[in-house]
Amino acid sequence: MMPRRNHLSTLVESSPVILPSLLLCDFGNLEREVARLEEAGVKALHLDVMDGRFVPNLTYGMPIVSAVRQLTDMPLDVHLMIEEPQQYVPQFFDAGADMITFHIEAVEEPQRVIDQIHALGAAAGVALNPATPVSAVEPVLADCDLVLVMSVEAGFGGQSFQTIALEKLRQLRTQIAPSTLLEVDGGVNAGTIAEATRAGAQMMVVGSAIFGQESYSSAVTQLAHIACGDEDK
Ligand code: DX5
Ligand code: ZN
Repeated sequence: MMPRRNHLSTLVESSPVILPSLLLCDFGNLEREVARLEEAGVKALHLDVMDGRFVPNLTYGMPIVSAVRQLTDMPLDVHLMIEEPQQYVPQFFDAGADMITFHIEAVEEPQRVIDQIHALGAAAGVALNPATPVSAVEPVLADCDLVLVMSVEAGFGGQSFQTIALEKLRQLRTQIAPSTLLEVDGGVNAGTIAEATRAGAQMMVVGSAIFGQESYSSAVTQLAHIACGDEDK
């Protein structure tokens, strides 16, 4: 299997990329869900880890990441919405995470967490909530492999897209290296994905706009068309 950080270049080349957020999937049929997403042509999966402390919601941890790892070779983009992420980085790496993203609001020394993730061989990402300015991540931008701009307050799926994220995406696009991926997460759907792509986002995390649909394939295809600006096709 390809060294984990190398997945990034594949994602950069094939961007804009639609990443299903498994938060709203049918966990009772995880194998079928992953197979349906592979059939729909997605290139990576987004896994939302919530600890009930950093955010007012509790989801899942390493066992689910490991279970998804057993089911697919697709890159796993693990979004840690937890306090003290540095305590769990090695376990999520061992569980199969290829990209490990933590929230800038959750750590005192983000550079140390980035170095910890890189030392393991995974890609390191930093996330910021809508109320957090870009200046908060500027000190570590040079060493990030991806920056995740939250377009909703982290914690729940099904929320509405906050347009403040567009300004941050535009600003970050001018500040980060071309090899650094820009990701947007929260309320991304057929009505918001075009603007997010134009603002510079390359990785579009999508939850309810896929898992609320009858056909994952047509939902993903439509979103990809709109993101690529050829929605009439
Ligand atoms: C929210 C999560 C998102 C969420 C996206 O905190 O980080 O990944 O699941 O779901 P939608 O697309 O429904 O907003
Ligand atoms: Zn997420």
